[in-house]
Amino acid sequence: MKVVLLGPPGAGKGTQAKRLEEQRGWKQLSTGDMLRAAVAAGTPLGRQAKQVMESGQLVRDDLIVAMIAERIREPDCAKGFVLDGFPRTAEQAMALDDMLNESGRGAIDRVIELAVDEPALIERIAGRFACAKCGAGYHDKFKQPKKVGVCDRCGGTQFVRRPDDRAEAVAVRLEAYRKQTAPILPYYQAQGLLKTVDGMASTEEVARQIDRALNED
Ligand code: AP5
Repeated sequence: MKVVLLGPPGAGKGTQAKRLEEQRGWKQLSTGDMLRAAVAAGTPLGRQAKQVMESGQLVRDDLIVAMIAERIREPDCAKGFVLDGFPRTAEQAMALDDMLNESGRGAIDRVIELAVDEPALIERIAGRFACAKCGAGYHDKFKQPKKVGVCDRCGGTQFVRRPDDRAEAVAVRLEAYRKQTAPILPYYQAQGLLKTVDGMASTEEVARQIDRALNED
């Protein structure tokens, strides 16, 4: 199955995409994670993306589309994939349809929107941190490590926060979502692909709503 998770920054796209990968074997394709890996590796793409990402703006469509077009051809996407953070503009949505047509993979099966209020998004993003060693995600209020200061998964004791989780960058990211990403929802609605779930619910309840939406015809 080929699924798109759409929603503002901090809506829970990454959390739910990881779960779907674990439970259903559909590869999580997070453009944010791919870009952060490119920045960390200092590739030409990473050098172009670094400042744009830190400011909270969107990276150029042509760079993103080329990155995803290459990735979905990999064998680990054959069983299906969950797009997390892509498409984010009308141009990207149309490019996605074209690349799926050209690759013979068939169209997107379902688009799930995670709807969350802005004050909740800000609270989720402001409290988010991750293990510097293995990347396991935590939250000051919603998901502390079992032993304070020690990663549950790898025992690491260093933690990091994303540079674009600063308040000024979060305001720019929310604006980018409102102006550039939300306008693509009607495109998927018109095709009968869009299902909206209550992203304000608990992680487990959001997962149940997504599973129901995926199982509907
Ligand atoms: P990206 O990495 O995609 O960031 P984002 O869309 O801003 O989303 P986040 O990763 O912040 O949040 P999420 O929705 O995945 O939520 P999460 O599950 O982590 O993009 C970063 C940047 O890269 C962009 O700004 C742009 O510059 C660039 N970029 C990426 N893709 C691009 C594209 N296609 N085009 C152009 N540029 C692109 O959850 C957040 C927190 O909330 C966590 O702590 C989690 O534990 C907690 N949480 C999750 N669900 C719940 C729940 N139900 N209840 C309570 N807490 C919850």
